[in-house]
Amino acid sequence: MRLSFKKVVKYTIFLIMVMFLNIWISYTVNIWSFNNFQDREKSSEVSEISYGGAVPRPPEDDPTKDGEGFNIDLNLHFSRKQRSAKEISPNNELAYYSKDKLSGTHMDRKNNSNLLHKLNPLTDKHRGRGKKKAFVVSEPEIEKTDETGVRETELSDIFISVKTTSKYHQSRVSILLKTWYRLAKEQIYFFTDANDQEFKDVLGDHLVNTNCSADHRRHSLSCKMAVEFDYYMASRKRWFCHVDDDVYLNVPRLLEVLRGYSHKEDWYLGKPSLKYPLEVVDRENAGMKLTFWFATGGAGFCISRSLALKMGPYAGGGRFVTTAEKVRLPDDCTVGYIIEYLLKNRLTVIEEFHSHLETLWLIRPHQLKKQITVSYSEYSSKPNVINVQGFNSTQDPTRFLSLHCFLFPNFSECRVLL
Ligand SMILES: *[C@@H]1O[C@H](CO)[C@@H](O)[C@H](O)[C@H]1NC(C)=O
Ligand SMILES: *[C@@H]1O[C@H](CO)[C@@H](O)[C@H](O)[C@H]1NC(C)=O
Ligand SMILES: *[C@@H]1O[C@H](CO)[C@@H](O)[C@H](O)[C@H]1NC(C)=O
Ligand SMILES: *[C@@H]1O[C@H](CO)[C@@H](O)[C@H](O)[C@H]1NC(C)=O
Repeated sequence: MRLSFKKVVKYTIFLIMVMFLNIWISYTVNIWSFNNFQDREKSSEVSEISYGGAVPRPPEDDPTKDGEGFNIDLNLHFSRKQRSAKEISPNNELAYYSKDKLSGTHMDRKNNSNLLHKLNPLTDKHRGRGKKKAFVVSEPEIEKTDETGVRETELSDIFISVKTTSKYHQSRVSILLKTWYRLAKEQIYFFTDANDQEFKDVLGDHLVNTNCSADHRRHSLSCKMAVEFDYYMASRKRWFCHVDDDVYLNVPRLLEVLRGYSHKEDWYLGKPSLKYPLEVVDRENAGMKLTFWFATGGAGFCISRSLALKMGPYAGGGRFVTTAEKVRLPDDCTVGYIIEYLLKNRLTVIEEFHSHLETLWLIRPHQLKKQITVSYSEYSSKPNVINVQGFNSTQDPTRFLSLHCFLFPNFSECRVLL
């Protein structure tokens, strides 16, 4: 049967319409998935603005501008705004800032779907990759963004707090100043308990006198952690990393590891020094016990922005001290208590954090480049230090100078070793 010209035109038009319908459908689906990401960004933006700390806000690069590289048409912007207005969920952290009393009842409990993807950071990446592919049509390639279009984490996105005390400025802090401090000067803040003009001259605003007492009791420690937390919140950085003054932090390695996690998800990264979770008496329910894991403060730990915002009601505005006193725990245990017990999140164990409670000389020299932190202890009869070639033990009892030269031989102090 022959087709008339009219019929050919009809079929052609029909086919073209089907094609357009197809394109339209796939485009709408893409907008939809794109919006989900944007909304998450939006709501975190709102909650950040609402954080009212008494701490001065250091200048910062706006962490909420992650998606700005995108060149999307007006329609997209419009629908994005519309959605975000109604999508600020009722369980947003922002609500908790207005509450003075600590109460766990309204906490948004993580459900299994969230936990699942917590167990494997890659799951999210893979999902993200799929999404980006889906709307590659309208999006120009931008360098240094991950699969979800979020700007890759830079060193400037990390807040590094070092807890120290006036007694250790000379013996401990000075070693840090000679070594890894120089790789991240702008990111590092030292939290101490006295005015020290000599160090103030070097560090300026980056040396913070917490006005906490200088002893090693629970209250003094949590007092410092409270100030650290508030400074971090005011900095609005993506990551809060805490270390003690007897730690060598491998700065580039820390950055590399943090890039594997999203600051918009809840992450508590660190390493416990116990083989079992901490068990404490539940002071609210007589006869009951609470168990939870915590990352040893002496090994260092990092908390994502998203999680830190949720910690606000228990840790922000000085409330960390109240929480620590309530459960009668030291600072690092209290962090674990807030995150694991009150917020129902999980510690993600990162093996590359090392405190002085570990046998440090067991780290093989060829593995040193991969470690995030190492420590030392000077008190035992056999010093517990890492095994690294370099300066002799009189010049470098902590091995930090040798490690620094091993990792960064380009520093001028290291020339004598070559
Ligand atoms: C878990 O969370 C997801 C996404 O936030 C939600 O859609 C789902 O209903 C939740 N499931 C439960 C059991 O709460
Ligand atoms: C410690 O006290 C001094 C003097 O009163 C004050 O200027 C400073 O802000 C206090 N530090 C903190 C972290 O509150
Ligand atoms: C360590 O090296 C310094 C300088 O090279 C030297 O004076 C000192 O004797 C050495 N100490 C030991 C214990 O080898
Ligand atoms: C040494 O190299 C590292 C990176 O490998 C760099 O960040 C640092 O600035 C360099 N230091 C000097 C003194 O050149």
